[in-house]
Amino acid sequence: MSSPEDEKKKTQAQQQKQEDSTTATQPEEKTQPPSTSQSVPSAPISKPVTSTSVAKPVTSTPIGRPTTSPVSAAVAKPASTLTNPPIKPTVPQKPQESKQDISRRNFLKLVAIAGGVIMVGSFGQLFPFLQGSVGQASATTQVIQDISTGAPIKTSDIPVNGFKIFIWPRTGNPAVDADSFRQCVVIHLPPGLTAPSSVSAVDPATNDIFIAFSRVCVHLWCLWNYIAADKRMECPCHGSQYVPGTGQYPSFPPATDQPPGMAVAGPASLQTPPNNMAPIVKLSIASDGTISATQLIGQVGCGQKC
Ligand code: FES
Repeated sequence: MSSPEDEKKKTQAQQQKQEDSTTATQPEEKTQPPSTSQSVPSAPISKPVTSTSVAKPVTSTPIGRPTTSPVSAAVAKPASTLTNPPIKPTVPQKPQESKQDISRRNFLKLVAIAGGVIMVGSFGQLFPFLQGSVGQASATTQVIQDISTGAPIKTSDIPVNGFKIFIWPRTGNPAVDADSFRQCVVIHLPPGLTAPSSVSAVDPATNDIFIAFSRVCVHLWCLWNYIAADKRMECPCHGSQYVPGTGQYPSFPPATDQPPGMAVAGPASLQTPPNNMAPIVKLSIASDGTISATQLIGQVGCGQKC
């Protein structure tokens, strides 16, 4: 059995031992300066991470430069050869227009459009008549009226070898009726000239023959006049001549024995049939001598069989 003093000594001895042991390990810690000193060299280690030497490769110009590096330049050069001058001439260069050119062109466009509108307006009035006169489609029976007086025309109003101008078919619209394509001429045939009953009318009082034609020349649509002295119709524009009836023309043999309305001289006579015969307006004559137009034979401005 140990006494309390012995126990106390033992405890002190153990404490002394522990102290010794701690003092014994302290020298080892002191020998660790290298480990503590590692915090110092750690800075040089961390530096490479955040140092410019590492960041530079990321954002430094040496990396950006390759876009304009000799290599990229070498690649870009072939691209420039695609648009080099020797190829450009193959693409036609559009000449630049000045403001004056553009305004002139716009002006010409307006003139063309205005001309088109005028033509459409003119033919708009003419179209209904042309449409009704194709072939023998037009069959409007009307008592014909003197174009000067508006009075109905009777056979007794027209002397032998004489004529009268009338509008047919009349619409009652002065603007429409003023169209020259509606002008016609009735002729009282002189002795020696005849015409088939299919295209003419006989005055029951005298047995004289009356025949009517469209006044429009089949050449270029001028209006012809009846020349009584020559017993022929003559166009003032280019001299085309037509015969009103079949017969003898001693002073002008080409007109002899030609059908009514035939062009016997001038450019109209050179046109290919049926464009060489004046269209005929079929007539009927009442017992009192009143003359009516009943039917168009042919087409105005074209010929008898158009
Ligand atoms: S228009 Fe009649 S001859 Fe020319």
